[in-house]
Amino acid sequence: MDNKKEWFSEWFDSPYYHMLYRNRDYSEAEFFLSNLIHYFNAQKDRKIIDLACGKGRHAIYLNSLGYNVTGVDLAAHSIQEANQSANENLHFEVQDLRNLRYKEEFDIALNLFTSFGYFKSKEEDILVIKNINKILKPGGFVLIDFMNSEVVIQKLIEHESKHICDIQFNISKHVENDFIVKQISFSDNKIDYEFTEKVQALTIEDFEQMLTSEGFNMIKIFGNYALEDFKRGTSERLIIVAQKNV
Ligand SMILES: C[S@@+](CC[C@H](N)C(=O)[O-])C[C@H]1O[C@@H](n2cnc3c(N)ncnc32)[C@H](O)[C@@H]1O
Repeated sequence: MDNKKEWFSEWFDSPYYHMLYRNRDYSEAEFFLSNLIHYFNAQKDRKIIDLACGKGRHAIYLNSLGYNVTGVDLAAHSIQEANQSANENLHFEVQDLRNLRYKEEFDIALNLFTSFGYFKSKEEDILVIKNINKILKPGGFVLIDFMNSEVVIQKLIEHESKHICDIQFNISKHVENDFIVKQISFSDNKIDYEFTEKVQALTIEDFEQMLTSEGFNMIKIFGNYALEDFKRGTSERLIIVAQKNV
């Protein structure tokens, strides 16, 4: 890692990220997770970790259902806000997915809403998968909720503007060296800002390769938050469930 700040440590910790994505809210989280809990038939004594939890919208809901939940994220401001909801069964910590400080503690690890594929190198992706393996109990489950890159690329809108909270966000997107690049520019209080999101266009095969080579079995692939089956050419999401080998 070089000393220059990585794009994801700045953008996701800025208030503008939360403005732009404000429709990714608690009701979306509740809809998805109530379907998942039903699918996993998860007993209330299961320990769950939300990896890259943001402000904790999923973790807070899971805890309200009675689960013991930990959320970790790199963004200090998001964790500060999430911590306002903390209790004896709901903990939040600033941690980097590349350096998780747990060992065989959790039954279920969640990585939700495209919180993977930000790094420059595949080695760092693999490091995250290795860490997920390390923090799960034998037989534990991981669920990765990623975009369906193929459909995102098919439907890519090159330029668009969004007017949110009195700010005009100008957004342009393109594909560059297997990354989906989104440039976001806007002015606020007469200051110009520019942020760039760069997410690897990972496919089902990429995840399958990483997970199976790091001690997981592929269990199920869903294509949306209603948990319908994944269809390569049309599904919105690529939601992978894998189980750590016993
Ligand atoms: C698209 S947001 C999703 C947040 C949350 N899962 C949600 O659905 O609201 C991606 C999150 O990944 C976090 N993140 C990015 N790189 C990370 C890293 N290396 N370690 C931990 N968290 C990271 C960001 O800070 C951000 O909160």
